[in-house]
Amino acid sequence: MTDAEKLPSHVGIIMDGNGRWARQKGLERSEGHKQGAEVFRDICTHAADIGIKYVTFYAFSTENWKRPQAEVSSIMDIFRTFLKEAEDRQQENEERGLRFRFIGDIGGIPEDIAVRVNALEERSSDKTKTTVNLAVNYGGRDEIVRAVRRIAEMVKKGEAEPSDIDGAMISGGLFTAGQPDADLIIRPSGEQRLSNFLIWQSAYAEFWYSDVLWPDFTKDDFDKALEAYAARSRRFGGI
Ligand code: FPP
Repeated sequence: MTDAEKLPSHVGIIMDGNGRWARQKGLERSEGHKQGAEVFRDICTHAADIGIKYVTFYAFSTENWKRPQAEVSSIMDIFRTFLKEAEDRQQENEERGLRFRFIGDIGGIPEDIAVRVNALEERSSDKTKTTVNLAVNYGGRDEIVRAVRRIAEMVKKGEAEPSDIDGAMISGGLFTAGQPDADLIIRPSGEQRLSNFLIWQSAYAEFWYSDVLWPDFTKDDFDKALEAYAARSRRFGGI
């Protein structure tokens, strides 16, 4: 296993390849998402068990509403199942020190889900070992636009000068305010792009790609990404 001091503080994961996995098996795409949610659970507990402080999973983007209605509904049902399960497994999650945060435009998701999301955030808010961010109805540009609007309001009210605006102020207006920037972004399924995920927070992130489809992704794959990360030399623009 990777030496603790070389562990990334914040890992972002793009859970890609569910549809292809299902198609290869002659199944509906929704079956790929269901299996993807199982893998999410495994990687979530594994990340916590090895001491990753922040892990962000890209579950549904602001662009994913363009998918067929049946697929969108099946993903929303998977969220409902997960939220119900999180209630049933509260003790186990507490013992693991898991804090759940949802990042994204929660106002745009079905209300029954939003209510459960708020309750889960509230219930786990005092946990500090591992924060699991679930990006739902999330878009990196949308997140920056919101932060900029908030700052513009402050300037309008005379609470800040344009010259006060800096990177820290923008970071503080993001859904991930108070969390470290992403150190490592993992994308399986052979695609090598960021797709509007944590675009501000990943300015200096390392990227790790794999051809494995997300429903086949294992703890070993996650560990391989951590090993590759530990071997990289991060210079943040220096030498
Ligand atoms: C991208 O793969 C995946 C999604 C848009 C949905 C991911 C959602 C889940 C795994 C469910 C998560 C649930 C919880 C509770 C975290 P794709 O469908 O674009 O794959 P493809 O490129 O092979 O078509």
